[in-house]
Amino acid sequence: MKNGKLQAAVIGLGEGFRHVKAFKTNADYDLVAVCDPLPEPLPPHMAARLAEWDLANTTKRYYDYKEMVNDPEIDVVSVTSPDYFHAEQSIALLEAGKNVLCEKPMTLDLGEAAAIAEAVRRTGKNFMIAHPTRYTPAFILAKKMIARGDIGELFMAETEYAHNYRHVGGVGGWRKDARRDPLLGGGCHAVDFLRWAVDDLIDESFAYGTKKGLADWPIDFDSYFALYKFKNGVIGKVMCSTGLSRPYTMRSVFYGTKGTIICDNLSGKMQLSSVPFFDSPNDSTPFIDIPVEVNNHNVESQVKLMADIILRGAKNTADVVEGARTVAACAAAIESAHTGKPVKVRNDF
Ligand SMILES: NC(=O)c1ccc[n+]([C@@H]2O[C@H](COP(=O)([O-])OP(=O)(O)OC[C@H]3O[C@@H](n4cnc5c(N)ncnc54)[C@H](O)[C@@H]3O)[C@@H](O)[C@H]2O)c1
Repeated sequence: MKNGKLQAAVIGLGEGFRHVKAFKTNADYDLVAVCDPLPEPLPPHMAARLAEWDLANTTKRYYDYKEMVNDPEIDVVSVTSPDYFHAEQSIALLEAGKNVLCEKPMTLDLGEAAAIAEAVRRTGKNFMIAHPTRYTPAFILAKKMIARGDIGELFMAETEYAHNYRHVGGVGGWRKDARRDPLLGGGCHAVDFLRWAVDDLIDESFAYGTKKGLADWPIDFDSYFALYKFKNGVIGKVMCSTGLSRPYTMRSVFYGTKGTIICDNLSGKMQLSSVPFFDSPNDSTPFIDIPVEVNNHNVESQVKLMADIILRGAKNTADVVEGARTVAACAAAIESAHTGKPVKVRNDF
């Protein structure tokens, strides 16, 4: 802390620039360091973004996170490196006494998820998982409407992650890797939203996978339908495809005994059909449009929550157990798609 402000750093300068912006525009933080192994001269897009936020002059630049991890000035670190490094970097940072905001997916491996959870318990530091759907206005409203009973009792929910990966392999092509299953790497957005909206533990998953769109990628499946059985009886369905030809969306539908909600991450409106709202005697209550703000990658709210947790004792609603349970739910569906059998979902982290 310096002058009452948290001293922040960002590891990985791709998606990490959203975190840079969020730290730079929040009065609770000073951004004091960034870390990325890319050597000079930097690619023009990265040099331009460093200049945009005046990072060359105002922050320390590290090339290896191991050199940054013991910097005593730093209180909070966003881990926004490629997925494979999240566990190693998060655990090292926690052990060095830092608070960590880790990009999704928390890890690509269940054992690593458990290890991060153990490190959080051991060190007592704050850890948040950066699942952006939890801060998307339409999805926040959908969750609130479900919780207060606007659609009666929820019994089925569908979420999706539709993203054409053909041209988003990442710097050095790290997404195009057999270790990065798309259901965990990207589909975790939809799985996490499903879990958060239904607000219960998942018991079991069954899934099918296929691969046509990214046929030349070294992954087993680029597309999935994954079913989830929640302990409260709700049935969930996640459509995840990274091999399709369509704009990036997360269209989602929630079915209750007295109504239905349709929403997505990019539309300025969501739809509600509700029997109590229309007081309709029949089954075909029309949908009404509800205007919503579009804020699809709301890292500002995540960074704000981290400051509220550290400085003002706010509840961590995206803690390490939430991150690990989403990894486990994805891993169960992936295993099911490979074995053809239903798979129990681990919840004890
Ligand atoms: N929340 C979201 O919606 C969202 C969107 C995109 C990416 N992500 C996640 O953010 C992370 C980064 O993805 P991206 O799209 O920025 O990828 P990217 O390839 O565009 O950028 C990654 C950056 O990390 C750097 N890097 C590579 N190895 C590193 C290491 N060992 N330590 C530190 N930095 C390293 C690379 O040089 C590069 O600049 C991934 O985990 C990804 O899943 C989240």
